[in-house]
Amino acid sequence: MNNNVQGETRQSLHGNWSSRLAFILAVTGSAVGLGNIWKFPYMAGQNGGGAFVIVYLMFVFLIGMPVMMSEILIGRRGRRNPIATMKLLGEEEGNSDIWKWIGVMGVSAGVLILSYYSVIAGWTITYIPKAFLGEFVGTDATSISKLFDNFVANPVSVILAHTIFMAINFFIIASGVKGLEKAVRFLMPGLLLLLFILFLYSLTSGSFMDGVRFMFTPNFSALNWDGVLTAMGLACFTLSIGMGAIMAYGAYLPQETSITNATVSVVIADTSIAMLAGLVIFPLVFANGLNPGEGPDLVFKTLPLVFGQMQAGTFLATIFFVLLSFAALTSALGLMEPAVAWMVESTDYTRKQCAGIIASIIWFLGLGTALSFNTMADFKFINGTIYENVDFLTSNIMLPLGAVFTTFFAAWIMSKNSTSEELGGHSVTYRIWRFLAKYFSPIAILIIFLQAIGWI
Ligand code: PHE
Repeated sequence: MNNNVQGETRQSLHGNWSSRLAFILAVTGSAVGLGNIWKFPYMAGQNGGGAFVIVYLMFVFLIGMPVMMSEILIGRRGRRNPIATMKLLGEEEGNSDIWKWIGVMGVSAGVLILSYYSVIAGWTITYIPKAFLGEFVGTDATSISKLFDNFVANPVSVILAHTIFMAINFFIIASGVKGLEKAVRFLMPGLLLLLFILFLYSLTSGSFMDGVRFMFTPNFSALNWDGVLTAMGLACFTLSIGMGAIMAYGAYLPQETSITNATVSVVIADTSIAMLAGLVIFPLVFANGLNPGEGPDLVFKTLPLVFGQMQAGTFLATIFFVLLSFAALTSALGLMEPAVAWMVESTDYTRKQCAGIIASIIWFLGLGTALSFNTMADFKFINGTIYENVDFLTSNIMLPLGAVFTTFFAAWIMSKNSTSEELGGHSVTYRIWRFLAKYFSPIAILIIFLQAIGWI
């Protein structure tokens, strides 16, 4: 069978991105989200800062990049939803259809992640009217904390916000790929600009260097294997890899686009936004005597403080939470698209019906997280609350496993012919990719994994 011809001529059922830029924007839109601005700072804070950040950065570049390239190339070659693509390529490259299970795990991870992601996105949406009504003006660390605690203590408002977010998500995803494309165009630059304004402010906060020291002084005694696993899970999470989102987007990528260049742009954009968020938040934490290990509420208890003290703070805070909600939305689309694309391709339901069914399931699962911060806060098992368990299972287990299997598949199962064709011939970058994807990434991920669960 001539794979080359197949890879090149296969067309996606959902249409293609209109340009290379549109693809990069969409993947960046999926990558940049709450992971960068909400999750990265709070996890770095909980895991002692510096050492965690450095390990995270290593994972982003040494594991994240080769995995992302693998996902895009697999997606573009298969041009179907992740499950069908893995099945097709698995069979085509001379193997069994067992590889489709990577797709199944990815689609499930997306659904599970979105169940809690939507709740946090709901918090973000709720902060838009709070910002607009000037609720942050003249506050101090204590009153800002109270504002947040009172809000999440009420399950009704948290669930309502989660419902609104899932509804918006449903409407956008029901309209297809073109909807995705339009949504991401103007958001990223806006978000970057606002973060930059906040960054300038944090430079003058008086504690900027404390924040920098916290983020970059590598104190490895503060980091255990669990922390390393968390850093790896977070790297996968912020880059949206290991669950088929990038694979699903890759399916719509025109054949002539360079996968390597696209990956580099996305990774740099994603990492810069996370670092910038950290450099805004940690100086604030120290300037206001807050605790960097605060947890999932860290961002919601720090950023409003700056806005409250800034000129035009009410206006900027409103825009900021609007943009952050949009960033969450474009990520959420990436989390849901694999499941929806799979359902559209394998059932007779329309895209709208599939989106509705999947959104409802996710909404229902999300109730567990919504209640983890109030009514069911004391209901703890294995790793803590329902939210903490869903997060651990998805970020620390499913995404890294998905990442190992995906790179393993690309580097060991697919022929050199197929991969080199997708990555533009036998260049130096191809050789680096192949080395990292073949040996480094799978071995590194497995070692960390086995260490963290105590098997070695
Ligand atoms: N990368 C997104 C973020 O940082 C989350 C995400 C994960 C989106 C996996 C899609 C797939 O917020």
